[in-house]
Amino acid sequence: MLSSGVLISFEGGDGVGKSTQLGLLADRLVGLGHEVVRTREPGGTPLGVELRDAVLHGDHVSARTEALLYATDRAHHVDTVIRPALERGAVVLTDRYLDSSVAYQGNGRDLGADEVERLSLWATDGLLPDLTVLLDLDPRVGLSRLTGAPDRLESAGLDFHVRTRQAFLDRAAADPGRWLVLDAARDADEVHADVAARVDALLARRAGAEPAVGAATAPADRPAAP
Ligand code: TYD
Repeated sequence: MLSSGVLISFEGGDGVGKSTQLGLLADRLVGLGHEVVRTREPGGTPLGVELRDAVLHGDHVSARTEALLYATDRAHHVDTVIRPALERGAVVLTDRYLDSSVAYQGNGRDLGADEVERLSLWATDGLLPDLTVLLDLDPRVGLSRLTGAPDRLESAGLDFHVRTRQAFLDRAAADPGRWLVLDAARDADEVHADVAARVDALLARRAGAEPAVGAATAPADRPAAP
């Protein structure tokens, strides 16, 4: 078990298969003995479920209102679910996080990526994922996979979803250390194999960086006693 947890977010357009990939990774990590917390935004808490309904189905929700509702959901989610789980040493898998706000509200709604990112960083007191998996797919394909009546975001139009996809890709390209970009048009098992390989490497690095139980933690600049 890790002494401080790991936060992994899954991002991408609507209908790209995030929940399938999240489920496959969760099962694998539980099998390896990790405590796994599987959660989502918006709606990962009881208050979040109410906010999710308001933001996805409310009437006359302006772009700024929308950004604030997602940020409110995120602040409460981090405070009541994510940080406590990380403090216990869990692996937290979240279906969407801050990068969705930057892509959908910052770029899709044209509110400005930097401003929306600042809002979310304020809401979360600066908590960023250790790894963000971007499932990239042409929005024409993703949207065509959806069933049921479209919500406010799903009905925002193809241009909106094309802008959102590009924003995710640009963000990922700017920070490859945090992001893993995968072609979500492939078979789910192939995508999962790539996710598992990157997560294994991350967890191995984390485990290697932790002092062995009972080991003295002398500061690096102090010579070891003779
Ligand atoms: P999601 O739960 O992934 O959709 P579904 O369960 O219907 O597949 O997300 C709901 C919608 O909210 C989705 O269209 C993306 C959007 N969204 C934002 O616009 N900004 C955000 O910050 C988040 C978290 C989601």
